[in-house]
This record gives sequence, structure tokens and C-alpha cells, in this order.
Amino acid sequence: MRVVFLGAPGVGKGTQAIRIAAQYQVAKISTGDLLREAVRNLTTLGLKAKSSMDQGNLVPDDVVIGLVREKLDDLSCASGFVLDGFPRTVPQAETLGKVLASKGITLDRVVNFQVSREDIVRRLSGRRSCPKCQATFHVDFAPPQVGGICDRCGEPLVQRSDDCRDAIEMRLKVYDEQTSPLVRYYDERRLLFSLDASGAVDVVFQHLSQELAPYRAT
Ligand code: AP5
Repeated sequence: MRVVFLGAPGVGKGTQAIRIAAQYQVAKISTGDLLREAVRNLTTLGLKAKSSMDQGNLVPDDVVIGLVREKLDDLSCASGFVLDGFPRTVPQAETLGKVLASKGITLDRVVNFQVSREDIVRRLSGRRSCPKCQATFHVDFAPPQVGGICDRCGEPLVQRSDDCRDAIEMRLKVYDEQTSPLVRYYDERRLLFSLDASGAVDVVFQHLSQELAPYRAT
């Protein structure tokens, strides 16, 4: 299974990527997670990326491509992959296409997650994350068992710095301008599947899992 999860911030890509990767035993590569790790580790790349991320802008293509290139190079060895949040611009999509072609493989599906703007803002403003194990919760839709504490590792939960109102608005604007052209890009290549991601997490997962089942062996 070789799939890309595409969609605006907060539509649930990361939540579903974890589940699909576990169900089908494939690698999950999330550029947001890789970038946040680089920021936490104070790497040169992380320091370059931090201000763009905090403001809700995209990290420059050369920085992101540099970060994922090594991961992409390993992809042909894996039994498959879910790319969460990459590509996010046409140049990134073109790079991905070239890397895969050089390995003689192609994408199976690009899933376009669709949720109303109102729901996106509710999902992002209520998201809480664990700074230690990176688990994600939501104050209303996926609350931890003990308020404000990670179920998995007991660490106090935090709000992501780009989940404040101004950064959310900027991220949605950036999505419209720079990422949404990928919907057409992949539709023209007959890879696009549009998913109504507005239901509960389990409902969305069931639908998505069914759609991707034919690709389990690729
Ligand atoms: P990234 O971490 O990828 O952020 P994003 O795309 O903005 O996506 P999110 O993580 O915000 O949302 P999601 O769709 O994964 O939703 P989630 O499942 O968490 O990127 C962060 C930044 O890094 C970018 O702004 C950019 O600066 C940089 N970056 C990353 N990749 C880049 C690239 N390729 N190029 C350039 N820059 C890049 O769910 C959200 C919340 O909703 C959670 O609380 C969850 O519990 C809840 N939820 C999920 N599903 C449901 C549901 N069905 N019902 C109710 N609640 C739900």
C-alpha cells in the first residue's frame, strides 16, 4: 500500500494515518512530526523550520525535501507507506514522483480528506498533544482519561504553538493557496479519492480502511 493523505490542517490525517499504518503494517511518514522532532532537538534544520511553523507558514520546499529524502529513499524497502502531510506543494509532489519512479514504483491512492471549516477550527482549537510520546487528544472528541494528562505516559498535555487562532487562520490560507492545487494535480493523474472525514474517528476509519483494502498487498 502506497498512499498519500492530503487535506487541510485538522481534518484528521494524522489520527487516521496512525490507524491505517497499524492495521496494514506499513510505514507512516509525517513531515509535521519529523519537523517538530527537529525543532525539539534544536537541529540546524529545526531552527530554520521553527519560525515558519509557529506562524502557520509552510517550511521551504528545500528544507522539507532534504528532511524526507532519506526516508523516501528507504520507501522501496518497506512493505508500503502512508505519507501524512507530504507532499504539500506541487514541487514536493514532483519530487516525490521522481523518487518513486527512480525505484520503479507508483502511488496507489491519494486520499483527499474533506471537513467543513467550522469543524476544522473546533478540531484544532481543542487538540492537545503529549510533548513526550506525541500522542494526540481532543478536549471534547478524544479526551484523556485524566484531564490534561497523557493516557500513555502520564506527561502533562500541551497545546501546539500553531493551534492558536492566528496560526490556524494562516494555515488555512496557506492550504488554500499552496496545497489545494494538489487536488487537481492528483485528480488529473487518476489517483484521487475524496473522503468525507466529518464523522466520528471510527466511522471515518471504517470508510477509509475499506477504500484502501484493495491495496494491502502492493
Ligand atoms: P502538520 O503537523 O502536518 O500539521 P497539519 O497538516 O496542519 O495537520 P494537523 O496535524 O494540524 O492536522 P491533522 O489533519 O493531522 O489532524 P489530527 O489527526 O491531528 O504540519 C505542521 C507544520 O509543519 C505546517 O504548518 C508546516 O509549517 C510544517 N510542514 C509539515 N509538513 C510540511 C510540508 N510537507 N511542507 C512544508 N511545511 C510542512 O486531528 C486534529 C484534532 O482533531 C485532534 O485533536 C484529533 O483528536 C481530532 N480529530 C481527528 N479526527 C477527528 C474526528 N473524526 N472527529 C472529531 N475529532 C477528530
